[in-house]
Amino acid sequence: MGEIQSVTVVGAGTMGSQIALQSALAGRYQVTLVDAVPGQLQRARANNTRLVDRAVEKGRMTREQADAALSRIKDSGNLEQAAKNADLIIEAVIEDFDTKSKVFSELGKHADRDAIIASNSSTIAISRLADFTKRPDQCCNMHFFYPPLVMDLVEIVRGPSTSDATVERAAEFAKAIGRTPVVLNREIPGFIVNRILHMATQEAYRLLDAGVASVEDIDIAVEKGLRWPLGPFRLGDLTGLDVTYAARKHMYETTGDERYRPSPALEAKVRAGELGRKTGRGWYQYPAGEEKG
Ligand SMILES: NC(=O)c1ccc[n+]([C@@H]2O[C@H](COP(=O)([O-])OP(=O)(O)OC[C@H]3O[C@@H](n4cnc5c(N)ncnc54)[C@H](O)[C@@H]3O)[C@@H](O)[C@H]2O)c1
Repeated sequence: MGEIQSVTVVGAGTMGSQIALQSALAGRYQVTLVDAVPGQLQRARANNTRLVDRAVEKGRMTREQADAALSRIKDSGNLEQAAKNADLIIEAVIEDFDTKSKVFSELGKHADRDAIIASNSSTIAISRLADFTKRPDQCCNMHFFYPPLVMDLVEIVRGPSTSDATVERAAEFAKAIGRTPVVLNREIPGFIVNRILHMATQEAYRLLDAGVASVEDIDIAVEKGLRWPLGPFRLGDLTGLDVTYAARKHMYETTGDERYRPSPALEAKVRAGELGRKTGRGWYQYPAGEEKG
């Protein structure tokens, strides 16, 4: 098993496009970005070009580094071709089990014998996908955070069959692209970060539901007392309350743990279509033009 030299990222959406860019910025990997939807690769390239242009303007990288990174990313609409000769494949397609399982079977058929096959999924444990490849020891979750270009963390999650070598190689790669890996020795819903985030924000919702304090005061308390950059309600408005609600519901349904049951106040917001910044109103109101934060 040699050093990782080439990386294929499957899915050129919000996460995949930036995972590809972050990998290319390391300066030592050939990166292939694959998508099945026409136009998505062009959109990803345009977004990545905008991101590096802004970084150049702000003096965070040179024009040469930016151009070299963009030119190191090869676009592809052909999964079979892109799977061959990649030492590491990171799947970042939509969060849908059937779609991911089909991608994993294709990767199992076509990937190089020694390739690591990782999923960026936030909720689908690698054990549910790994067997589709017929080499589950070479599979793990590599969970990046949004936006991957900024967020310095990758949760590497070991499934029951994942080998030590796979975990080590995935962690080495994360370090090589300037990200800090943490390893979970077994699969748990929510991994580490979302697990803790869910519990903390659930407590905030319980305080609100019990009339202990206002949305504003709970946010201020958490921001000033725990030094979170955003309190739980401001964070919810930014993420989207529908997304927050779906995440809670998923945790509640997969763990059966009452502590994750979505708050009635959150449920009411979602039913009313007040989903946060994107709808101009959530826990707070956002005048037109300020929705993006
Ligand atoms: N968005 C986040 O904040 C975030 C954070 C961490 C992890 N994740 C995980 O990352 C993954 C991707 O999320 P996203 O937000 O980037 O989604 P997205 O919808 O922005 O992108 C998904 C991409 O996959 C492509 N796609 C769909 N089917 C495909 C196929 N068969 N082959 C190739 N490409 C295909 C779509 O065209 C799209 O471009 C999910 O598993 C999600 O759980 C998301």
